[in-house]
Amino acid sequence: MNTQPQPRLSPARDGGGGASGTAPGGTAGIDALYANPYLASLYDRLQPRHLRGDFDFYLPMIHEAQSVLDVGCGTGSLLREAHAGGHAGRLCGLDPAESMLRIARQYDGVEWLSGVLADCGFREQFELIVMTGHAFQAIVEDEELATLLHSVREALVPGGCFAFETRNPDARVWEQWAQEGPDRLIEPDGRTLQVTTRVTVPFDGRCVTFVETFEGDHPGLPATSCSTLRFMEHHALCDLLKQTGFRISEQYGDFRRNPVGPHAPEIITLARR
Ligand SMILES: C[S@@+](CC[C@H](N)C(=O)[O-])C[C@H]1O[C@@H](n2cnc3c(N)ncnc32)[C@H](O)[C@@H]1O
Repeated sequence: MNTQPQPRLSPARDGGGGASGTAPGGTAGIDALYANPYLASLYDRLQPRHLRGDFDFYLPMIHEAQSVLDVGCGTGSLLREAHAGGHAGRLCGLDPAESMLRIARQYDGVEWLSGVLADCGFREQFELIVMTGHAFQAIVEDEELATLLHSVREALVPGGCFAFETRNPDARVWEQWAQEGPDRLIEPDGRTLQVTTRVTVPFDGRCVTFVETFEGDHPGLPATSCSTLRFMEHHALCDLLKQTGFRISEQYGDFRRNPVGPHAPEIITLARR
């Protein structure tokens, strides 16, 4: 059991989304984790900034681009930090989960949009599109993935960049998730919450499904959220991007820019229109 008083960055918790598990008062098709207002309010504390290596990777790119779209922006913490850091161009965050966006919208200076990219009709509007926190893995079905990539390409200016990460299936991280004990989160009023992750369907060559259970002294608890994430093989991801008309300009196996390899945790891609 994890008895640390502060949360660790749970690999099972970031990057969920899309597939299943609608919460009471939630949104059909969105994981309870993002649709349930109380669980959404925990997100930024469960993913504390100091444990996130991805922000320091993406922020310099964001500051270099005049127009940036964050697809699956969640609570908007990345674009909020870019704006607070002096980004003076267009910053736009898009997410289908209203409960996450409600938190993002407390911050001015960024355009916050509700929905999915294919419905936005963007044409050549962004120099950079990012998908962070493994939001890309929430896109499970082939058709939805093809639609997303076409919509990203359409929304980018010629030469524009799509930057995102997906976990490397060769690293088999779900085996660690299955062994981890619960996370604990201390609420500002001192109450303790416990979050347990249980892998219900291990990797089937394509996806992993897991259930997270949130317990503690709060009227909204206990609550559960079921997520299915897609894990794309490196070569399959490269083929799909090329078929969609992207040129892969950089790829890394982690946020320190080490190469992609069998033991690398991530496949981080910068693909150009
Ligand atoms: C793990 S969170 C990541 C949030 C944020 N990008 C971050 O780095 O903290 C995944 C987000 O993807 C969103 N999501 C789920 N399905 C999506 C889809 N089809 N298109 C875009 N975003 C989606 C969820 O609502 C959720 O806010």
